[in-house]
Amino acid sequence: MRHGDVPGVMDIEKRSFTSPWGAHLFHEEVDRDFSHPVVAVDEETGRVVGYIIFWVVYDECHILNIAVDPERRRQGIGEALMRHCEEVARAKRVPYIYLEVRESNRPAISLYKKLGYRFFGLRRGYYTDTKEDALVMAKFLRRE
Ligand SMILES: CC(C)(COP(=O)(O)OP(=O)(O)OC[C@H]1O[C@@H](n2cnc3c(N)ncnc32)[C@H](O)[C@@H]1OP(=O)(O)O)[C@@H](O)C(=O)NCCC(=O)NCCS
Repeated sequence: MRHGDVPGVMDIEKRSFTSPWGAHLFHEEVDRDFSHPVVAVDEETGRVVGYIIFWVVYDECHILNIAVDPERRRQGIGEALMRHCEEVARAKRVPYIYLEVRESNRPAISLYKKLGYRFFGLRRGYYTDTKEDALVMAKFLRRE
């Protein structure tokens, strides 16, 4: 992700979340040393079709945000973004990846389960807009 991608990212963000991030938060991630903000781009149109943001700090990898253009879902883009994150984490020899997800978010939970993430904990009232609980899901990466 570059600063110039942020308008395309915001277009997806606003259509994907009830409490979307503001554009300034994406700009901050682009500038942050330990953040990995990554976009998936349609080769034909050059448009942003999805993105993931994850942090690698010491021995942890934390996924902060992932979304795919609503018109481009169920085409494997989300899975490709998640696999990219895992590749980076493995290359950096990070032992595990974790994330928070709304307990009502079935598509995302299905994606994470398919990729081997398991329930790891609960953060009560984590989402301040709806007071919904967050499920913490994690994947432990075995050294191969
Ligand atoms: C979650 C999200 C990123 C998935 O992106 P996607 O590109 O549609 O996902 P993929 O096409 O790569 O799907 C991979 C797997 O995820 C699961 N999955 C994805 N969408 C699903 C849905 N609507 N229902 C059930 N399972 C789903 C399936 O197991 C799927 O594998 P399959 O196609 O072989 O069945 C997308 O739905 C999204 O942007 N949601 C809104 C933002 C969001 O909630 N982000 C997560 C915050 S924690």
